[in-house]
Amino acid sequence: MSYLNWKLKNFSGKSWLWAGHISELAETGDYQCVEMANERALIIRGEDCVVRAFHNVCRHRGSRVLDSAEGMCKSVISCPFHGWSYNLDGSLRGAAKASTFPALDREKWGLKPLEMEIWHGFVFVRFKPGLQPSVANLLDRFDEEISRYLHVDLLQTAPIECTSPENINWKSIRDVDNEGYHVPRAHPSLNDLYGNKYYDEPFVNGVSRSYAPFNEGSGRLWSVRHYKKMIDKFTSPYNELPRAWLYIGIFPNFVLGFYPDSVIFYQEIPFSVKETVIRGATYKRAEENRTMRLARYLSERIDATAMAEDRQLSIMWYEAMKSCAYEGVMLSDLEYGVRTHHDALREILPVMSQEIEPPRGMVAESNN
Ligand code: FES
Ligand SMILES: [Fe+2]
Repeated sequence: MSYLNWKLKNFSGKSWLWAGHISELAETGDYQCVEMANERALIIRGEDCVVRAFHNVCRHRGSRVLDSAEGMCKSVISCPFHGWSYNLDGSLRGAAKASTFPALDREKWGLKPLEMEIWHGFVFVRFKPGLQPSVANLLDRFDEEISRYLHVDLLQTAPIECTSPENINWKSIRDVDNEGYHVPRAHPSLNDLYGNKYYDEPFVNGVSRSYAPFNEGSGRLWSVRHYKKMIDKFTSPYNELPRAWLYIGIFPNFVLGFYPDSVIFYQEIPFSVKETVIRGATYKRAEENRTMRLARYLSERIDATAMAEDRQLSIMWYEAMKSCAYEGVMLSDLEYGVRTHHDALREILPVMSQEIEPPRGMVAESNN
């Protein structure tokens, strides 16, 4: 692994990782597993109803103790390798053939706890003490605005989905997503929905905001026209939800989207310099009726179109840097999302300020 990738993975471990919604952990024994940059987390509701997070690493020889993305453990977590078992609070219940080991303290040899925070019902974990403050602190300047989307009810989950690996560096995907200057030209449906007043704000203290109030009028495209029609039919209290999409970006690779019909997230996970997986999920309203379901279907359709368009832009942006004619960029004031994201990247990776790529094996020295 290059030093650059190591440092990025090291940083990723210190930043918050989205681990789901509390509605996915409603019953005793319900669990979620997430992973990033070689680290694995297990979040589980105990018999005392407390939700806890652990490293998904057996204390015997390090196997995952749970191997599914989600599920329910009746009363015991049993490691699939040699059968060590753990209570739902993470303490060791027992080792298989215990007499062949020295006496094992149940707490000391329990699953290693992990830092976890539940914010507006959304569960975050991180693997190492972070560079960032708590999620609540990080997002507190948006709390009032986000509450306008979340106060009406609890959300229900849709499964977290991952794309198959894209042959793109993760930053190329993020660079495209970090600015809305391309919306009028590249995203006809988004432009029809909110192109007139959409704007991005720069990353400040690791968080950015983009606000997309809907255009006046009914909409030119079929999906936009019908989406707005469905939103117009929302009844109380959902008709008070903002007629706007709000995006909150969390450095380095994470976006939350708040819509009248749903809440979404997406996150780029780098597998290597050239490979990225995008994970994401849509959360629907718990009291979703037919009209709201149709609205969510239409917003997902609009989003899917925009994602396919962004994917193509990311491929073209990634290949641009390989051309001998490429001389760097000229950024508009409407692209300060890109600029401020790179400012933050340069802070943790000074080597990125160099005009010429250092020779292989010299990245660590160049980064000092
Ligand atoms: S690695 Fe889990 S029981 Fe051996
Ligand atoms: Fe885009």
